[in-house]
Amino acid sequence: MEKDTLIFAVESSCDETAAAVVKNGRTVLSNIISSQIDIHKLYGGVVPEIASRKHMEKINQVMSEALSEAEVSIRDIDAVAVTYGPGLVGALLVGVSAAKAAAFAAKKPLVGVHHIEGHISANYIEHKDLEPPFLCLVISGGHTHLVIVRDYGEYKIIGRTRDDAAGEAFDKVARAIGLGYPGGPKVQKMAESGNEDAIFFPRASIEGAPYDFSFSGVKSAVLNYMNGCRMKGIEPDRADVAASFQKAVIDVLVSHAILAAEEYHFDKIALAGGVASNTALRFAMKKACEEKNIRLYYPSPVLCTDNAAMIGAAGYYDFIRGQRSGWDLNAVPNLKLGKCAE
Ligand code: KG4
Ligand code: ZN
Repeated sequence: MEKDTLIFAVESSCDETAAAVVKNGRTVLSNIISSQIDIHKLYGGVVPEIASRKHMEKINQVMSEALSEAEVSIRDIDAVAVTYGPGLVGALLVGVSAAKAAAFAAKKPLVGVHHIEGHISANYIEHKDLEPPFLCLVISGGHTHLVIVRDYGEYKIIGRTRDDAAGEAFDKVARAIGLGYPGGPKVQKMAESGNEDAIFFPRASIEGAPYDFSFSGVKSAVLNYMNGCRMKGIEPDRADVAASFQKAVIDVLVSHAILAAEEYHFDKIALAGGVASNTALRFAMKKACEEKNIRLYYPSPVLCTDNAAMIGAAGYYDFIRGQRSGWDLNAVPNLKLGKCAE
């Protein structure tokens, strides 16, 4: 029997301090997440300086908890994987420095991981049968990409947002209708009691770029609608606004993904990123995929939003392909998605 490969993974690109131990890229032995949401929600969004400081306070504790929960010592680990971009530079630096220190002290290889590659790889944890090639819709707070996953570590971005990311639109609309941060889950909750056909918000498409997205128009339409109500002295039905906005975003995400799958002949679509935990999106995507005989994959909500287990999964495939980082590994806030043809 082949020896197991254990990856000790660290993630600190935004507002979660996270560490995990992952076996053979697919089995999670521990997945510790310390969220800073309670602090950032006081300010209506992530404050980068506070995020870095909170990561520094928590990182050592989170990393040792991940090892102890997995019942392994750093000596048993094959490599240390860490997110080195994209993300907030100060936040990334904390994880990168801590991972480097741990790897250097234990004489273990270091593997720098792309955050989006992590989100995509979260699907490998939940779906043991999923292997590339497949189409992946990456929808997070900072990114909205349609990605062809050709092989492990080989990506081609065929569509991207021209302005706001899908999660960003949820967060901004949440603020506009008086819900706090983070907006996505709150909009989803409020939408449950609303009528999704009550208000028509625009579905943007870009001429000549059928897989690209634009969410700033729908966001502005919601803001205009709210202002219009205010000026007329009407109390807007916030649940209807939330449901109608959510429907507009979902319609675009689903139609673009299905169009790309058909055009590129994919019978597998995976969802990834924080917005992939949206239940209405999952439902709409499932329905559309069933109609087209496409298999749909998505991670459970805890693996959709930022976590280190997904970095462990991606790090494993990077590691077995021989990818190593030097001790000069640095945080790269605008890191491009690995060996990818755009
Ligand atoms: O992937 P993620 O945790 O962090 C980034 O890499 O950006 O995604 C966070 C984003 C936030 O914008 C959040 O509002 C959104 O994902 N989100 C959701 C839901 N849960 C999180 N959006 C819609 N519905 C949800 N249930
Ligand atoms: Zn993320």
